[in-house]
Amino acid sequence: MHTFQELLEQFERHFGGCTFPDHPATLYGPAQYILDLGGKRIRPVLCLMGMELFGELDEDAFEVAVAVELFHNFTLLHDDIMDKAPLRRGKPTVHTRYNEPAALLAGDTMLIYAYEHINSIRSPQLQRILSVFNKTAIEVCEGQQLDMDYEQLHPQEVEMEQYLTMIRLKTSVLLAASLQMGSILGGGSEGNLHHLYEFGKNLGIAFQIQDDLLDAYGDPEKFGKQPGGDILANKKTFLLVKAFALADAAQREQLSALLQRRDGDKVAAVLRLFSACRVDEWARQEKEKYACEARRHLEEIAVLSSRKKPLEALTDRLLNRES
Ligand code: IPE
Ligand code: IPE
Ligand code: MG
Ligand code: MG
Ligand code: MG
Repeated sequence: MHTFQELLEQFERHFGGCTFPDHPATLYGPAQYILDLGGKRIRPVLCLMGMELFGELDEDAFEVAVAVELFHNFTLLHDDIMDKAPLRRGKPTVHTRYNEPAALLAGDTMLIYAYEHINSIRSPQLQRILSVFNKTAIEVCEGQQLDMDYEQLHPQEVEMEQYLTMIRLKTSVLLAASLQMGSILGGGSEGNLHHLYEFGKNLGIAFQIQDDLLDAYGDPEKFGKQPGGDILANKKTFLLVKAFALADAAQREQLSALLQRRDGDKVAAVLRLFSACRVDEWARQEKEKYACEARRHLEEIAVLSSRKKPLEALTDRLLNRES
């Protein structure tokens, strides 16, 4: 049993050994660039924690953890193109530092590397791991497409349920699957696997609500992304969808007019309206609600409660994060 920090250090040692070929540098340079920018490495650590709930860490667990982090970085390269994002992890995004074709191909290559790592495991559970991985990868694409579709809609055309489905698909299933793949390797029972997956799904929803909050209210120095990026792109986050539900007629009209703008003042004006409607408070309450549901499923997992401590600590850490 290890803490987040200990697992992170063990993972970094394994991940550091995974380098790309030198040639062509125009392909592998951008892939190495994004990996070298770091990130929190939550998903691989979740995979290792999933395994440690039921068993001892082995080489397979690290291979799957590496695959999950490569897959996540692939999604980020493509996501930043879709979102026209200039900054990631405090540095220029890959498509702005290099170019779009390079970012697309570097992402594709990382995805294929991810499969190679899964393919290298010795566990008889390989096929099962692969089908969890594939199901999740497809769901992430579905969620990303919904995110893009909703960008084009007026916030009043997007129901809160649709927002929740979208963030479950684009974000939370990968956190849940990371835990589940680890626990499959660890030999967890069906019942335990179910509760662990539900824990991860609810944690993931709370995680994305926090991401949406930070995008609007975070300290840009710590968050490492463009401040107000979601507002500029008219993303249908909890904040925007709920603001329309809570606003009075005059505020709704002002918000609708602001959606047409893309200038720098738009962000501050939208944030003023968010505060007037107190949507940030709502979002925090909603985040807490999903975190509670996550903790309820964690309690249901039939292992010694001391084994769950690292996941409890990680839950608190993710919900109060600033980056
Ligand atoms: C960013 O994920 C994408 C989302 C699902 C919100 P992280 O916040 O885990 O990104 P890194 O890997 O730590 O940079
Ligand atoms: C990203 O959602 C989800 C995936 C990358 C699959 P966001 O677009 O909110 O993530 P950030 O804020 O750019 O990290
Ligand atoms: Mg994005
Ligand atoms: Mg996005
Ligand atoms: Mg975001």
